[in-house]
Amino acid sequence: MTESPEAILLVGGKGTRLRPLTVHTPKPMVPAAGVPFLTHQLARARAAGVEHIVLATSYLAEVFEPYFGDGSALGLHLEYVTEEEPLGTGGAIRNVASRLRSGPDDPVLIFNGDILTGLDIEALVATHRSAGADVSLHLTRVDDPRAFGLVPTDASGRVTAFLEKPQTPEEIVTDQINAGAYVFNRSVIDSIPDDRPVSVERETFPDLLAAGAHLQGMVDSTYWLDLGTPQAFVRGSADLVLGRAPSPAVPGRCGDRLVIDGALVAMDAKLTDGTVIGKGARIESGARVEGSTVLDGAVVEAGAHIADSLIGAGARVGARTVVEGAVIGDGAMVGPDNELRDGVRIWCGADLGPGAVRFSSDQ
Ligand code: GDD
Ligand code: MG
Repeated sequence: MTESPEAILLVGGKGTRLRPLTVHTPKPMVPAAGVPFLTHQLARARAAGVEHIVLATSYLAEVFEPYFGDGSALGLHLEYVTEEEPLGTGGAIRNVASRLRSGPDDPVLIFNGDILTGLDIEALVATHRSAGADVSLHLTRVDDPRAFGLVPTDASGRVTAFLEKPQTPEEIVTDQINAGAYVFNRSVIDSIPDDRPVSVERETFPDLLAAGAHLQGMVDSTYWLDLGTPQAFVRGSADLVLGRAPSPAVPGRCGDRLVIDGALVAMDAKLTDGTVIGKGARIESGARVEGSTVLDGAVVEAGAHIADSLIGAGARVGARTVVEGAVIGDGAMVGPDNELRDGVRIWCGADLGPGAVRFSSDQ
């Protein structure tokens, strides 16, 4: 048996569903529990014995290397490869192949860059080896699989089909979905076309199945969340703080709240349900912040109530304002006595006057 496998992290997506959080910051660099989300994935891979990781970057590619450098702070050797034009998930994997050191039959781990999970990475590699598979996939069960890749398997766990984002009810043949972590034999990576965009989900997996390749699924019921939407992102960050989602990279002890050094929190402010307060942020008297992420330098004024929301870097939430299930973009100014709910997204730098937005007709 060879040494531990190397890994590819797919971090080039535009993060469209997370806007405006991803206007200035690529999705994997948005802070969750006080550090860029990617840190949790890197630290978990390292804890599973992975040492060499290649980041496949595209959108806002220039921000990754200045932050993570050569990876030595995390005990990793990191490399970065940037696509000139986005190559899709399969094209991105193929595009970094020249940086891999593995032999043709060695397993290579591949991760989507927006998944928070307790996956036992070593168990996935062990399953891959014992099944003798060409590709192995982490699968999870969800109530509504329509936004994912559906992956039915036979009694032995062998994948029988791959249906990305099914459009018709007849295609919803299982509640097992692609959880965004794979083991590929190196030779399979080298077989992906290298001269055009390729979707691993829409092209590579179906083609491999049609050609009779062995794709193995490993279903488990550990913590799993795709952080692709604002609500999921905020939930994931809170679960990291609460210790429900495992990560060696949470900067502090797990508990009801995480206040990063250099934040100012009034004595009578209430922070609960996995709230995180970033560096230089200020929470004023009587404010309540539940299950929310307040990024660096943001201000929550007296008596404001924030729940299940994300307050962007340097943003301001005025006194008595209610923010529930909402996103306030970086640098936005929300005046006092506003009421923002139900998925509303306030764009970066926007300016809302006092009492400008309400959901209820009266206080
Ligand atoms: N380098 C690079 N280039 N990365 C990309 C590109 C690209 O052109 N396009 C997407 N990515 C990265 C994203 O940054 C993300 O980490 C990953 O590939 C998956 O893209 P998403 O945009 O997050 O896809 P999704 O969430 O709709 O669906 C995927 O994940 C689901 C699980 O969360 C698919 O793999 C589904 O099959 C899966 O069920
Ligand atoms: Mg995703």
